[in-house]
Amino acid sequence: MKLCISLDLPSSHENLALAKEVKDFDVWLKVGFRSYIRDGKEFLEDLKALNPNFKIFLDLKLYDIPNTMADAAEEISNFGLVDMFNVHASAGVDAMHTVMQRIKDIPNRPLVLAVTALTSFDNASFMAIYNETISTKAIKFAKDTFNSGVDGVVCSVFESLDIKKNTSDNFITLCPGIRPFGEEVGDQKRVADIPFAKENSVDFIVVGRPIYKDTNPKDVVKKILENI
Ligand code: C5P
Repeated sequence: MKLCISLDLPSSHENLALAKEVKDFDVWLKVGFRSYIRDGKEFLEDLKALNPNFKIFLDLKLYDIPNTMADAAEEISNFGLVDMFNVHASAGVDAMHTVMQRIKDIPNRPLVLAVTALTSFDNASFMAIYNETISTKAIKFAKDTFNSGVDGVVCSVFESLDIKKNTSDNFITLCPGIRPFGEEVGDQKRVADIPFAKENSVDFIVVGRPIYKDTNPKDVVKKILENI
């Protein structure tokens, strides 16, 4: 299991300071809307300059018509800086397949994941949009994702095992909503700790606020890595 740290701080300066603190650890860094919209590709270059071995997950959750998604996927892949990015499974099989076809021959193409159900949904709010329970719909999304040639899914820890059973053991599950040592949940609804993530064969845990809101982020990261 790998740790992916969310760089969701209010300035590139603060994000780079956090990345610097963890630069000797074997971790992935997640660059999401906030950082990427503000700091762009240059920020990705700055991270790789800090440590070329940092793995970068660009969390932009692409959702659009197939051709536009494939255009974006191609641009991201051609950066040569991104090791993993994601799309929404609800964009559909056609869109996911088009994305994979477009980037399949790019050398060292990034891994691609598809978001099933956001971890901020509880069952009632999810049902209001999709008219199905999270557990049922997440499996359907995961099967579509798998059949489209995508490498894995973003899901909650609670769906990870079922998704693997319905697709393949090698199908990647990346799970946000991790509160390693019982920290505040914030807006997340389906949260879990590290032992539970391990039991559920999660490949990547994503941790944001429990690390960057702590007065000593380096210690938290060290402790998480010792536990995984
Ligand atoms: O601070 P926290 O640990 O809750 O951060 C979780 C991170 O994972 C945030 O950057 C959020 O955007 C992201 N994320 C999520 N749920 C998803 C996909 C991504 O919480 N389904």
